[in-house]
Amino acid sequence: MTSPLELAGRDTGLDAPARRHLDRLMASWNLLADLCFSDLLLYVPLDPLASGDREHEEHFIVYGQVRPTTSQTLYEIDLVGEVVTAHELPLVVEAMRTGAIAVGEQRSGTGEGHLRLECIPVRYSSQILGVMARVWSPSIARRRGALERVYLDLFERLSVMVTDGIFPFPDDDITSDHTPRVGDGVMVLDERGRITFSSPNAVSALHRSGITSATNGSTLHALGLETTLVEDSYATRLPVMEEMERRSDVTLLLRCIPLQARGEVTGALVLLRDVTDLRRRDRLLLTKDATIREVHHRVKNNLQTISSLLRLQRRRIEDQPARVALAEAERRIRAIAVVHEILSREAGDQVPFDEIVHHLVRMAHESSVGAGDIAVRVDGELGEMPAEMATPLSVVLAELLQNAVEHAFGPDKASTAEPARIDLTFAHPPDHYEVVVRDNGRGLPEGFDIEKTRSLGLSIVRDLVRTQLGGTITMTRDHGTLVRLEVPGPKRPAKAAT
Ligand SMILES: Nc1ncnc2c1ncn2[C@@H]1O[C@H](COP(=O)(O)OP(=O)(O)O)[C@@H](O)[C@H]1O
Ligand SMILES: [Mg+2]
Repeated sequence: MTSPLELAGRDTGLDAPARRHLDRLMASWNLLADLCFSDLLLYVPLDPLASGDREHEEHFIVYGQVRPTTSQTLYEIDLVGEVVTAHELPLVVEAMRTGAIAVGEQRSGTGEGHLRLECIPVRYSSQILGVMARVWSPSIARRRGALERVYLDLFERLSVMVTDGIFPFPDDDITSDHTPRVGDGVMVLDERGRITFSSPNAVSALHRSGITSATNGSTLHALGLETTLVEDSYATRLPVMEEMERRSDVTLLLRCIPLQARGEVTGALVLLRDVTDLRRRDRLLLTKDATIREVHHRVKNNLQTISSLLRLQRRRIEDQPARVALAEAERRIRAIAVVHEILSREAGDQVPFDEIVHHLVRMAHESSVGAGDIAVRVDGELGEMPAEMATPLSVVLAELLQNAVEHAFGPDKASTAEPARIDLTFAHPPDHYEVVVRDNGRGLPEGFDIEKTRSLGLSIVRDLVRTQLGGTITMTRDHGTLVRLEVPGPKRPAKAAT
C-alpha cells in the first residue's frame, strides 16, 4: 500500500530499521494520545539532499497523526504528508537539536487562540528520528480530577521513555485488534507490583469477574488473579499480554506495560478489558464450524457402513450378475463418502477437488486385479468447488475411471504395443470446469452413442452431468476413448430466491 508519505513524494532519508521504529511508535501511540487527552503529531525532518529544494530552509513532514478518544480533537483534517518549514516549528526544532522535551506555546492555525505544545524527541539508538508533538488547547482541556492527573503522569513517564528510546518496545507486535485501550480500564502499579490506582472501568471489569475487594495497595495475586503477567513483564522489561478466565463466564484480557526510568522498572501500566462477549462469539462460531464437520464425519461413517453391508451381502450371493451389481453400488457409495471425508476435515463447504481425484484414482487402481499396471496421469486442477457440485462430479469421475480400467484394456492389454495409460486433464477457466478422461485402450464399441446407451453406469453419468451439474458430455474414439465434460461454474446465490 502506498503511504501518504510516498504519495507526497518526499524523502526522510531514514533507513528501514528507523522507519520500523516509527511504525511501531504509531502502532501503539493511541495509548499515549488517550493518556494525555491530546492530539499527537509526528514530525520528521526531510532529507535536504533528496527533497531537492535549493533554498537552505529545513523542512519537516507530518509523518503521523493520532487523535485522542478521551477528548476532543483539534484537527478535523488529516495532516499526514503536509510539509512545514522549520521556522514555523521552533519548538520541534529545539527538541530535535537538544534531544530533550521542549514545552511552549504556538499560535494556532485553527482559530483556537494559542495552543500548548509539548515536543518529545523520538530516539532510536543514538539517533533522534523526529519529534512527537502533543498539541492541546487550554480552552478545551478537561477539568482535572484524580484520573486526569494519573493519566497525565503516565503520559509524562512514557514520554521520557520515548526520548530515551525505550518506547515503543522492540518486537512489540500488537497484532490483536482486541488489545485493551485506555477507555477499557487502567490500573497503575508501583515498582513492587502493588496497585496504586484503578480507573472506574477497571474496577467495573473486576467486579464483573467477581473481584470486589479494594484494589489499592493490593496486587493482582492478592485480588485472586492467578497470573505471572506482572513478574514476567518486570523481568523482561517488555509488555506482556494475557487472557484470563475468571469463573467460567468472564474473560479478562490484561496487558502490562512496564514503566522505566534511569534503567530501573519504576512501575507498570496495566490495561484491562472484559472480552467475555468477544470470546463467547468466537466460541459459538467455532462450535458451529466443528458441528458441521462432525456431521460430515458421521455421514461418511454411515456411507462406509452401508458399503460394508453391501459387501457382506455380496459374499453370500452366488449369482454373478447380482454380485457385480452389488460391487458397483458399493463403489458408487464410496465415491460419495470420499467427498464427505474431505468435508469433515475442511472448514467451510468448499472442497478441494484435486484431493478427491487422488482418492478416486486410488480406488480405481484397487478395484480389479491388473488395474495397478495402468499408468494414470493427472494434469491441471479444478481448485475448490462447492460440496453440492463435488458430490455428483465425484460419482461421474469414479464411473469414467472404472470404465477405462474395466473396458479399455481387458485381459489382452499385455498384447497392445503401447503401455496402458489413462490421462486425466482438468482446467478451470472463468465460469466453468473442464474434465477430459482419455485412455489409449481398444476404444468404444462400434456404433456406440452415449445418447442411446441404456447401461446403468453411463446412464448415471449422463443424467448427473446434464441434470445435476447442467453440463455437457461427449464420448469419442480417438486412439482409445476420449471423454470430455464441461460443467458451468458455481451459480451465484440468487437474490431473494427461495
Ligand atoms: N473407456 C472405455 N473403453 C472402452 N469401452 C468403454 C469405455 N467406457 C465405456 N465403454 C463401453 O461402454 C459400455 C457401457 O458402459 P457402462 O454404462 O459404464 O456399463 P458397464 O461398465 O456396466 O458395462 C461398456 O460396457 C463398454 O463396452
Ligand atoms: Mg461402467
